[in-house]
Amino acid sequence: MSTSPHPRMLVGNWKMHGRQHDLEQIAAIAGGIGDTDVPVMICPPATLIARAVEQVRDSPLMIGAQDCHTDEDGAHTGDLAAEMLAEVGATAVIVGHSERRTNHGETDEMVHAKATAARRAELQAIICIGESEAQYDADETISVIGTQLAQSVPDDATPENTVIAYEPVWAIGTGKTPTVAEVGAAHSFIRGQLVERFGSRGAEFRILYGGSVNAGNAAELFAADNVAGGLVGGASLTAEKFLPILDALR
Ligand code: PGA
Repeated sequence: MSTSPHPRMLVGNWKMHGRQHDLEQIAAIAGGIGDTDVPVMICPPATLIARAVEQVRDSPLMIGAQDCHTDEDGAHTGDLAAEMLAEVGATAVIVGHSERRTNHGETDEMVHAKATAARRAELQAIICIGESEAQYDADETISVIGTQLAQSVPDDATPENTVIAYEPVWAIGTGKTPTVAEVGAAHSFIRGQLVERFGSRGAEFRILYGGSVNAGNAAELFAADNVAGGLVGGASLTAEKFLPILDALR
């Protein structure tokens, strides 16, 4: 019998922030998690993953990666295979973040292939979807995220190997967030789509909210319908900012 994953989760995405000395923040986060059954993860830049994994060895903090290539090896200068990330101890990889979709032209098809690569390497895939500001203004949120979800999530996704992150592009790094009702509506729509596609197992996927989450708004956002927790950028860079967000979740 499959066991249901814990319904909550908190992930920090450091993006292109973090030098070796910032590992002390990962140590502080690991030390500050305390006794929690909420899975907590930091996704530092790839240059820090191996040392971060060493640092969190005796703590429940998990270390993830921010992107991977679709192939296992090959002539792909500058890219990293999911297997390489797994080899140094990452347990998950973010795929389809809007900054990858926008800055690197990643399509749903590529995100789908990256999620498949993550599974091949036994990494959990954190698949990001979300509408742009123009799409939000044009009331296209539901249709946009419906298409992204359908096309980015592989058929063999399970609640164990896949996490969905809803991140409105206009809310990322801007200090702007949707209303709690809007977050709840988007997450409930995603939940409905997952149930339609994956049956009762669709009800078990974690759906994280991301976009300007901070200690001040986390409790409210996490209380919205079908929100399992957060994918946090700027406010995950220090223990001082990140740990209160975890407090809001438990
Ligand atoms: P932010 O980033 O929390 O800095 O808005 C979130 C994200 O991009 O994952």
